[in-house]
Amino acid sequence: MARHLITSAIPYINGIKHLGNLVGSQLPADLYARFQRARGNEVLFLCATDEHGTPAELAAAKAGKPVDEYCAEMWAVQDEIAKGFRMSFDHFGRSSSQQNRDFTQHFAGRLADEGLIEEVTEQQIYSNTDGRFLPDRYIEGTCPNCGFESARGDQCDNCTKQLDPVDLINPYSTISGSTDLEMRETKHLYLRQSQMKDQLSEWIESKNDWPVLTTSIAKKWLHDGDGLQDRGITRDLSWGVPVKRGTEDWPGMAGKVFYVWFDAPIEYIACAKEWADANGKSDADWQRWWRTDMGAEDVRYTQFMGKDNIPFHTLSFPVTILGSGEPWKLVDYIKGLNYLNYDGGQFSTSRGRGVFMDQALAILPSDYWRWWLLSHVPESSDSEFTWENFQASVNKDLADVLGNFVSRVTKFCRSKFGEVVPEGGKWGEQEEALIAELTTRVRAYEGHMDAMEVRKSASELRAIWVAGNEYLQTAAPWVTFKEDPEKAAAQIRLALNLIRLYAVLSAPFIPDAAEDLMKAMHTEDAEWPDDISAALGSLAVGDAFTVPDVTFRKITDDEREEWQARFAGTRD
Ligand code: MF3
Ligand code: ZN
Repeated sequence: MARHLITSAIPYINGIKHLGNLVGSQLPADLYARFQRARGNEVLFLCATDEHGTPAELAAAKAGKPVDEYCAEMWAVQDEIAKGFRMSFDHFGRSSSQQNRDFTQHFAGRLADEGLIEEVTEQQIYSNTDGRFLPDRYIEGTCPNCGFESARGDQCDNCTKQLDPVDLINPYSTISGSTDLEMRETKHLYLRQSQMKDQLSEWIESKNDWPVLTTSIAKKWLHDGDGLQDRGITRDLSWGVPVKRGTEDWPGMAGKVFYVWFDAPIEYIACAKEWADANGKSDADWQRWWRTDMGAEDVRYTQFMGKDNIPFHTLSFPVTILGSGEPWKLVDYIKGLNYLNYDGGQFSTSRGRGVFMDQALAILPSDYWRWWLLSHVPESSDSEFTWENFQASVNKDLADVLGNFVSRVTKFCRSKFGEVVPEGGKWGEQEEALIAELTTRVRAYEGHMDAMEVRKSASELRAIWVAGNEYLQTAAPWVTFKEDPEKAAAQIRLALNLIRLYAVLSAPFIPDAAEDLMKAMHTEDAEWPDDISAALGSLAVGDAFTVPDVTFRKITDDEREEWQARFAGTRD
C-alpha cells in the first residue's frame, strides 16, 4: 500500500473564491486524493486558509471587522463551501493556528542557526498620510517588468514577477490612494536563498518527470538569478506570526511579523499537526508523513497549485525546509496549473465577473461543476469557461451519456423483470468484446489518473461511459426480449453491473452521483475493478435495486442565457 501526502495551495482568506481558483488547485488535488484512496492507498490530504499578510488585513478593514474575527468567520464560510464541492480534505486548517506559529518561529530559528538569515537595516516606503509603512499589497504601481498599471508591491498579477515595493513605478498607497510617500529606515530579516542556489538547482534538475510548466518556471527563476535573490521574510505589520527566533525574542524585531509567504507553506506541515491534534493522534502520527526520520521516506508527496505559486513552492519553501538542516520531507511532484478564463475575459473578484463558488452551488449541484471543470482543467494551457460549452458538456456527457444509460437500463429492467438483477443466459461475443474494450480503457484511465493527466482521465472516463451506451444500442435488449427473453436478461444483468462499475470509476470526478448510483444498486462494493469480468459479476442474480431519480438533468437554453447575464460582472 502506497502512502500519499497531498496538499492543495492554501486559498487566501479574503473572500469567496471563484471557479478559476477552485480548478487551479483544490479540485484536481481532490480528484487525485479520491483516486488514490479508491485504489486502496493511504492518503493524507490537507488544505487550509492563508490568513496572514496584507490581503487579510485589507479585506477585514473593508468589512469593518477586527482581522482575527474576520478570519474566523471567513474560515467557516470557506470550510462550508469546500464541503459543498465535496473536497475530501483530511483536515482544513488555518495558517493562523498556534501550530503554524510555533513551526514558523521554529524554522526561522533553525535558519538563523544555520547562518541563512541576515539582518538588514533598510529603507522602506512609509506613507505620511497613513502614518505607517506600506508593505506588499498596501502599495500598488506600474510593474517595472511588463508595464501593468496596478501591479501589487509583492508580485505582478500580470507577469507573475515577484516584486519589491520600491521597484514599482508611480507608487501609491492602497489604503488612502496617497502618493505622499517617503523612504524610512527599518530593520528586517532576509532569507539567504542565494546560498542554496546550487543545492536547489541540482534538486530541480533531478525532477525530469515534472510537468514542463513547473520546471520551466522554476528554472527561469533560478537561472535568471531573479527568484533566488535573498528575500525579505519579515514585515512592519501587526497581523501575522510575531518574529521570534525559535521561542526566544529576536532583538530589534519587536512588533514585526513574518511575511505571509514565509509562514503560508509552513502551514502544510502545521496542518498535519492540526489534523493529529484535532483527532486525538500523537506527534508520531503526523511525523510519519513529514519527517524522513519518522517514516516519511516512503511517502509520495504531491502538491497542486496555480502557476503563480510555482516559484514559492520550487524555491522559497524548499530553502526553508532544506535550510533548516532537519529531515523534512521534500515534495516529490508538483502539479502546476494554468489559469481558467471566464467568457472572453478574466474572472475578476473585484468586479464580480464570473461564477464564485457559493453562486455555483446555488444554481447546480457540485457534480455538474466538478465534471465540467475537471474535464476542461487548464492543464497544458489556459482554458476558458463559456456557458455554451458548460451547457453542451453537461447535457451531452452527464445527461445523455451517463444519466440516460442508467435510466434506460433500470427502467427497462423494472418493466420486464422487476427491480432485481435477472438471471438469463451466458454472455456471448458481444459481451466479451465489451469486456475487452473496458479492460483496455480502464487500464488507460488508471494510468492517466496516476500521472495526474486530468483531461486525458476525463476523456477516458467519458469513453468508458460511451462504450456502455454503444453496447446497449447494439445489444438492444428491448428488441432481443421479444424473441429471446433469456438473452435480454443476460444483457441487462451486465448493464446493471456496468452502473455499479461506473459509480466506482466515476466517484473521484462526481462523488455524489456515484454515491446515489451505489445506493440505487443497493451495493457497498466499491472495490476497484482490477479484473473487469469479475467486477461485472458484483451484482448477483436476484439482488434488488431501485430505479434512481434523474442522475443528471439538462440545462435549458433559458437558464444558460439567464446565468450568462447574471454573472457578467456588476459587483462594485
Ligand atoms: N494563498 C496563496 C494563493 O492563493 C497560496 C499559498 S500556497 C502556500 O495564491 F504554499 F503558501 F501555502
Ligand atoms: Zn508585470
